[in-house]
Amino acid sequence: MTSGILSGRGKFITLEGGDGSGKSTQSRLLQAFLKEKGADCLLTREPGGAPGADEIRELILTGEPERWDAVGETLLFYAARRNHLRLTIEPALAAGRFVISDRFADSTMAYQGYGNQLGVAAVQKIHDFAIGDFAPDLTFILDLPAEEGLRRTEGRLHNEDRFEKMDLSFHERLREGFLSIARENPARCFVLDASRPVGDIQAEMREQLDQRLFR
Ligand code: TMP
Repeated sequence: MTSGILSGRGKFITLEGGDGSGKSTQSRLLQAFLKEKGADCLLTREPGGAPGADEIRELILTGEPERWDAVGETLLFYAARRNHLRLTIEPALAAGRFVISDRFADSTMAYQGYGNQLGVAAVQKIHDFAIGDFAPDLTFILDLPAEEGLRRTEGRLHNEDRFEKMDLSFHERLREGFLSIARENPARCFVLDASRPVGDIQAEMREQLDQRLFR
């Protein structure tokens, strides 16, 4: 590893945003960038990313929207997240690696807290109990009008579509949720306009990463 900041604990970077916002593509490009810089970087995603968590992913993301209510779903996301943190993220950070996660806790606040209207206080309580004050070092929020995001997911062939089946107002609420999280956590969160070309978005992310984590 060549990066000066990696003398000790690694850094945790998360990508957040609505369905179809391009997080997965951007995560892979960011991992490639870090590797070019000589940094050891693990790319992971939620829900999933650890034994047990991947099974929970299947439970949550498939089937009809009514399969779980907001409380049950939130508990499942946090059960998965706890394993992800304990078995994958923490060991990698302790070894001095960068970790990029395609979604993390802000997704639960946005989707369940705002989208499903469980409320900020209820989600925060579960968060505090399950993972305490652990937080990413940097969070990129890919912002896109809900309609545009849903349009982009339309052609996708997969069965993990429980949330894509939610109505437009759900997706509009969760978009507002992400923006509100960003306003409340300005030091950690950086919002990007995700309607632009992939390369433009990535360039802005790399610039932010350089400024915030490499200087
Ligand atoms: P993705 O792998 O396409 O991002 O799909 C994950 C889906 O799960 C997506 O629709 C967002 C949703 N989700 C939540 O509702 N809450 C969460 O905490 C997480 C991590 C994901």
